[in-house]
Amino acid sequence: MNIVNIKNSFNAPVYHEKTVSSTMDVLRRLASEDAPHGTVIAADFQTEGRGRIRGRVWEMERGESLPFSVLLRYPRAEDIPSALTLRSGLAVSLAIEDFAESFYGDHFDGMIKWPNDIMINGKKAAGILCEANDGDVFLGIGINVAQKDFPEHLRNKATSILLSINKEQITENKEQITKNKEQLKVSREQMIASDLRFLLLEKILFRLYNELETEAGNDWQIRLEQRLFKKDEQVVFAEGAADSGKIVSGRLAGISERGELLILTNEGGDVRSFISGELRMNL
Ligand code: BTN
Repeated sequence: MNIVNIKNSFNAPVYHEKTVSSTMDVLRRLASEDAPHGTVIAADFQTEGRGRIRGRVWEMERGESLPFSVLLRYPRAEDIPSALTLRSGLAVSLAIEDFAESFYGDHFDGMIKWPNDIMINGKKAAGILCEANDGDVFLGIGINVAQKDFPEHLRNKATSILLSINKEQITENKEQITKNKEQLKVSREQMIASDLRFLLLEKILFRLYNELETEAGNDWQIRLEQRLFKKDEQVVFAEGAADSGKIVSGRLAGISERGELLILTNEGGDVRSFISGELRMNL
């Protein structure tokens, strides 16, 4: 496994593989070999990338996305920070914004769609999968970095950082891109992806560390609600498992301190909290 030479704010190794089944599988193996808290494994391509909902795959083209997993080790399950997936989403959205600003001079808002999606301009740009085993957390993050297009069934739902930024700005990096392209002999799109993906990763690790391990993260709930996708809007929510058939309609009121979704229901007019389920997009 290669070591990537970037700063990891957790002060742990960052590994890279060209192709893996899933970075989650590799991370579990690393954990069994006593890898330290904050260890990262990133890949160019996953043959069996997993989504949060069982049976859903995380689709990607080689080099266009950034799939990676971070190992967070706590003494016991009770020590795992509350609302970890949401707080990680907050860190990812902030890092994506930092990245767009520093490399493209562009700004967009990364919104968090409860519980695990990062949205840009109403479309999904990243997803988070959080698995835990006692005090070990396997935090899997997939970011659409440089896709210019998506398969038909995702076209209206997915976006990438590259698609979201103001195209004019990209040309400012052209010189650098051309220089590296000669060495790496990859397409321009892949170049944008592979060249800058690790810098994005560095920014994410910085933000993640800040959110989870410093006092700066303490007011996460307020900041998350400011970025909560569809906050104060009418929503349709499928409660529990994807196929439960239990539908709730109401106003998205916010999130609790434990990270539950709060909905002021149309029927009954009470605020209900949910630990699992999915917001329906086609209202
Ligand atoms: C979702 O949106 O449902 C979660 C997607 C998580 C995808 C990432 S990519 C890196 C890590 N490895 C996986 O197999 N899945 C996660």
